[in-house]
Amino acid sequence: MSKFNKDLGVIGLGYVGLPLVVESCNAGLKVFGYDNNSPKVESLKKGTSQIEDISDVSLKETLEKGLIISDSPEELNDCEHIVISVPTPLTDYQPDLSYVKAAASTIAENISKEQVIILESTTYPGTTIEVLIPEIESISELKAGKDFYVGYSPERIDPGNKTWNFKNTPKIVSGIDEASASKIKTFYEKIIDEVVLVSGTKEAEMVKLLENTYRHVNIAFINELAILCNMLEIDIWEVIEAAKTKPFGFESFRPGPGVGGHCIPIDPNYLSFKTRQIGKPVRFVELAQEINNTMPTYIVSRILEMMNSLQKPMKNSNILILGVAYKKDISDIRESPSIKIIENLHSKGVNVSYYDPFVDSIKINASVKINTSVKKEKITKNFNSYDLILFHTAHTEFSSINFEEIDVPIFDATGTDYLSNSERI
Ligand SMILES: NC(=O)c1ccc[n+]([C@@H]2O[C@H](COP(=O)([O-])OP(=O)(O)OC[C@H]3O[C@@H](n4cnc5c(N)ncnc54)[C@H](O)[C@@H]3O)[C@@H](O)[C@H]2O)c1
Repeated sequence: MSKFNKDLGVIGLGYVGLPLVVESCNAGLKVFGYDNNSPKVESLKKGTSQIEDISDVSLKETLEKGLIISDSPEELNDCEHIVISVPTPLTDYQPDLSYVKAAASTIAENISKEQVIILESTTYPGTTIEVLIPEIESISELKAGKDFYVGYSPERIDPGNKTWNFKNTPKIVSGIDEASASKIKTFYEKIIDEVVLVSGTKEAEMVKLLENTYRHVNIAFINELAILCNMLEIDIWEVIEAAKTKPFGFESFRPGPGVGGHCIPIDPNYLSFKTRQIGKPVRFVELAQEINNTMPTYIVSRILEMMNSLQKPMKNSNILILGVAYKKDISDIRESPSIKIIENLHSKGVNVSYYDPFVDSIKINASVKINTSVKKEKITKNFNSYDLILFHTAHTEFSSINFEEIDVPIFDATGTDYLSNSERI
């Protein structure tokens, strides 16, 4: 019989933490969610979800089932397992672990003996042992491995992915010792179909960085090839489709306007931060960053070419951007390449408008004026009032637009199959 009244406490209720509390509650666990953003907590408590993968209906259902959400952390001390899912951004291009440290001190102030503490935030190898544990031990005066259990389990959630979800995506788990590893594995087996145990927390931390750096590097590679193919007058999309027919040894990646979100543009920096401590840069990461970061400028240069060939000046032209989120069917605009594209177009005197069914407003440089969030009805009736349309994010909703009827040049930065009459990246 556990001495705790709750199975799980989660610190940080964002893209990672909210699905975790909802799915765990649905799996029959008693769950407590804590977030220090009070307005967000108020809205979650009313059943308003801020992420697409959790509907208001399913959030409300879990609240009715007993999910507790709060902006006060005290009840954490009654939770057998505590998961940390707070942001790990870059500040001045360096890993910023201040949120992880703040979560660690919150735990230390509310800790109970025998609790199982699991870090899920993405970070560099060594964080659990070098940063998380010392922070908890110094405040609580308890000892990891003796008084409480600790481990690391990277979150692999892919927001908006309808095939691979919270439950069927295998979960990597680890512990600082055998007892911690075993407790953590048993816990995740209650909520996730397949749990994969690795030998230590550093290995688990590194798994996440391998996965995301792999994507980052391969996206950069295909982006570079797309630019080169355009210069060689070769259709990169046809080449990719043909290469995909090889049944082994080839995984396809697609070119695009750049990388966005809280993971791919950021996580590889955590890897290079760690390797620089031993005097070695990760050369692939640096090259990939350089290439992916130039993609928004490349898109603008292609738009400029199109406008030139139409004998239209960029200055005072009207350009509509369809989709500003960093990927399809979600509202996340963190690090979205659309932001750099908008700023660049604006600096060339373009009147920029956008329509994105998921994004009502977008934060850009204050001096940049944009016709924000043009309404759908207005957009679909007035396509022809623009000089050019940039198709930036291939939201499913856009597949219902009849692009054939639009008599405006379109530049497609996504290679979607909705568009047959466009210039492609
Ligand atoms: N978004 C993704 O798709 C994704 C996927 C895998 C891993 N990750 C990683 O998971 C972590 C969380 O990412 P996210 O996208 O969920 O972030 P998010 O910004 O959506 O959510 C984080 C939440 O933590 C809260 N918070 C911050 N500091 C806190 C504190 N001290 N105490 C309590 N709450 C606090 C914030 O208010 C916010 O609601 C990051 O390390 C990220 O790299 C994210």
